[in-house]
Amino acid sequence: MMKLTIDGEEVEARDGDTVLDAARRAGAEIPELCAHPAVSPYGACRLCLVEVKRNGRTRMAASCCYPVSDGLTVLTKTEKVQRARRGVMELLLARAPESQALRELGASMGVDEPRFPTVTHAERDCILCGLCVNVCREVIGAAAISFAGRGVDRALAAPFLQSADACIGCGACAAVCPVGSIEIRWGDDEVEVPTFGAKVPAARCEECGTPIGSAPFRERVQGQLAAGLSHATELCPSCKQQHAAAGLSRANRGTASTLPASARPVPL
Ligand code: SF4
Ligand code: FES
Repeated sequence: MMKLTIDGEEVEARDGDTVLDAARRAGAEIPELCAHPAVSPYGACRLCLVEVKRNGRTRMAASCCYPVSDGLTVLTKTEKVQRARRGVMELLLARAPESQALRELGASMGVDEPRFPTVTHAERDCILCGLCVNVCREVIGAAAISFAGRGVDRALAAPFLQSADACIGCGACAAVCPVGSIEIRWGDDEVEVPTFGAKVPAARCEECGTPIGSAPFRERVQGQLAAGLSHATELCPSCKQQHAAAGLSRANRGTASTLPASARPVPL
């Protein structure tokens, strides 16, 4: 355990915590967009800026990437910090002006319209936070997408700007995107990610045939499940429910015969 000061309060933190972790536990409200528990901190959005003081020096730092240390002083709500975050928000809004989530967060910080011209590369709202790229590589293990280009032309893309052949249609990229930039089309026969030009076959419930997501993703998950559990991915929620209910009634019947008469269900 180590001790640091956050907004004048002494707080304890564990080795490996970031300043954002410790500040959140201390009740500080720090806006953030690219800090996700599923992936390593990347520090792309810069919205989580705070002031840190160490060894007599003060600097602005992204709290999601800054490790705690004994004696560190952190300021999360000074005018300087808030002004810097508003500037960052203006830049983000210039990249993703149509994102409702971003507009709401901006409004909560006092930023309604950015001073900067809108960047509408590929007509896509993307703040280049990298969460989708990192979750695809670190968690899913597909590495189907990355960034291409520079400056205002920098954008998400599949390798060599082709369709994302390595995409398994899991939808993790869309799930983590903080501005809703990635569209997934869950069709009857295909799962499509138009953002990356990817298409994979849909998986269907083994019993009723309802589409239940992507076939390659199901195969990936099945390969990681313990023997005898792969059926967990084969049925739609409704068929699983029916199986559970049937399993329960079978169990009840089996158990009832071994119960003392007083504990058995009363026949209707
Ligand atoms: S698509 Fe979304 S998750 Fe991916 S980099 Fe852009 S904003 Fe981040
Ligand atoms: S949340 Fe820290 S840089 Fe994005």
